[in-house]
Amino acid sequence: MSCPLFDLTGRKALVTGGSRGLGKAMARGFAEAGADVFISSRNADELHAAADEIRAGLKVRVEFATADMTDRAAVAQLAAEATARLGGIDILVNNAGSNNPQAIDKIVDADWDRLIELNLNSVMALTRAVAPQMKERRWGRIIHISSIMGLASKDERNAYSATKAALIGMCKATAQDLGAYGVTCNCIAPGPFLTDLPGKMLTDAQKKTFADRTALGRWGDPRELAGPALLLASDAGSYITGTVLLVDGGTLCKTF
Ligand SMILES: NC(=O)c1ccc[n+]([C@@H]2O[C@H](COP(=O)([O-])OP(=O)(O)OC[C@H]3O[C@@H](n4cnc5c(N)ncnc54)[C@H](OP(=O)(O)O)[C@@H]3O)[C@@H](O)[C@H]2O)c1
Repeated sequence: MSCPLFDLTGRKALVTGGSRGLGKAMARGFAEAGADVFISSRNADELHAAADEIRAGLKVRVEFATADMTDRAAVAQLAAEATARLGGIDILVNNAGSNNPQAIDKIVDADWDRLIELNLNSVMALTRAVAPQMKERRWGRIIHISSIMGLASKDERNAYSATKAALIGMCKATAQDLGAYGVTCNCIAPGPFLTDLPGKMLTDAQKKTFADRTALGRWGDPRELAGPALLLASDAGSYITGTVLLVDGGTLCKTF
């Protein structure tokens, strides 16, 4: 029997970048807790397969739509479509994101602008679009997926760290804008989770370094982000707002 504090029955969640990796794992966690879920990304086939996986064995609705988060009109359309098809959005997880490592003296303007649009501007645009209905219902949960790279950094992570730190700043303001309406806004700062994003970007040697940097001595499994997200998305997290939940296997607790 599930714990009522973590029960999401009747709630409706929109998870961007829900086609794979951390987004899919969080969407599945919400569905297991009873929520209807809407996922988005740019790839319809991957979304279709992910939706099947997320709803497998459960009696919840899982819907999806493609939306390129670097396209402001597509972001607005996503908010409208998810709201219409689910009948509202109670939980918004701004998860879609990417990385494009470039050293400070090698930054290409178009790459910088694209990452800011995807990792930061789209989060503002989608949150702005969804917040009014949460205010009206006087209940809502907004979760931005930041990163340990928003709290510390690494060579060539200029744009990435800038966006992930900005999400933390924005979430603190949003928490104050919406707190009186029963809407919380928090960031999760994941450490190294083995998904496509680092999987394709890092060499085996770099992957080992990341694992060695954690206190647990290993990469996180994407499913290990579902519980922390559920805490912030449910009544269990009702008094948590404007903060950053570090889920990094004990990376930033190390000095040397
Ligand atoms: N994995 C980690 O170690 C780690 C650590 C800290 C923070 N994070 C953050 O966690 C989030 C999820 O990352 P992940 O590791 O799960 O990466 P992932 O496996 O590459 O998944 C990224 C998701 O975002 C979607 N996406 C990417 N660009 C998009 C765009 N322009 N428009 C719409 N959707 C887009 C992808 O689908 P399409 O490409 O098909 O559109 C996919 O669904 C990101 O914000 C990332 O920065 C990850």
